[in-house]
Amino acid sequence: MQRRYFVQLFILLLLFNSCKKENNTSCALNDALYSKADYPIGVAVEPYKLIFSTPYYNITASQFNRISPENCMKFEYIHPNQNQYYWDEMDSLVQFCKTYSKSIHGHTLIWHKQLPEWVLNFSGDESAWESLLKDHIQTIMLRYKQNIYSWDVVNEAFNEDGTLRNSIWRTKLGDRYIELAFQYAREADPNAKLFYNDYNLESNPNKRTAVLQYFDNMKNRGIEIDGIGMQMHVSLYSPDVNDIALSFQEITEHGYLLHISELDIAINIYKKLEYPSKEKFLQQADYLGKIVANYNQLNKQYQFGITFWGVSDADTWLVNFYNRPEYPLLFDNLYAPKSAYCKLLDVL
Ligand code: G3I
Repeated sequence: MQRRYFVQLFILLLLFNSCKKENNTSCALNDALYSKADYPIGVAVEPYKLIFSTPYYNITASQFNRISPENCMKFEYIHPNQNQYYWDEMDSLVQFCKTYSKSIHGHTLIWHKQLPEWVLNFSGDESAWESLLKDHIQTIMLRYKQNIYSWDVVNEAFNEDGTLRNSIWRTKLGDRYIELAFQYAREADPNAKLFYNDYNLESNPNKRTAVLQYFDNMKNRGIEIDGIGMQMHVSLYSPDVNDIALSFQEITEHGYLLHISELDIAINIYKKLEYPSKEKFLQQADYLGKIVANYNQLNKQYQFGITFWGVSDADTWLVNFYNRPEYPLLFDNLYAPKSAYCKLLDVL
């Protein structure tokens, strides 16, 4: 299906969601979330939704001061053919962020998912793959060097058991693709903050230990990395807040900037069809409050910020991925504030 049909589907969903019930939250849309925080409060954004949805635009513009491109900077969209880049969506996001004085977190340069066919079928030798990796990273970073000051250089390179994922990058270049990516990124911008980004670092000590050992070793060999992005796709039922607090401590004690990079709190993992109760939304708010309270306890030099992975429950990736209704974010399907939003205002 062409992207334009996907956009039309989004508009239809907007109309459908407009008849959803209220989440009966306890506060009105208030001051900007970011005005309450000592660090950036971010959100993942699809540029086309800024065009087609006024509430999406207004909440993004008024509540958040850092933007992560949810998809439009990924390889398959921004570099669809070997000699062709598609800049329009990212350029429009850069313009939006300039208009509203927001920072942009570049997501993501190297990942094993959302790769275009030409990369998946690329038949060059190791040297040609090195050039492919370098050209992609540096072409994008050099274009946006004056507008983007932090990047997810590599995303999700580790398996849950702490071994390195057998991605196409590792197959073609060996383990060193990771350090090559960071070296090429540093070469492109000596001042940018360079991140490694992954999921389950808050819940899987084996994976977290392996990630820290790998990047500590890389740093000790003089290859620069500034921070770790903990995606934090969590649920009301796990992980325990104490485990999350421990993971925050561990990562910052190793000297990394800590970006909670893709926060959402699933509440419908049992795939119920009825709309969640007010109590469920209050539980979600309470859990969010504890996460943020622990983040606020960290040494401020490591607080890179908190980014939510979507503007409203109508925008979450979880619905398509798990094929279930889901309500993981700060605003409901009607773009009205939820108890989680109210709690966040209190704890920031
Ligand atoms: O662009 C196509 C469009 O042409 C087509 O009509 C439509 C319907 O099939 O699909 C569109 O692509 C979708 C794409 O999002 C853009 O909307 C893909 O099917 C869909 O799988 C893709 O999902 C994204 C997912 O990454 C891909 O793995 C989610 O929106 C995005 O939120 C999610 O984000 C990732 C982070 O980048 C990394 N961390 C995990 C996180 C969740 O997977």
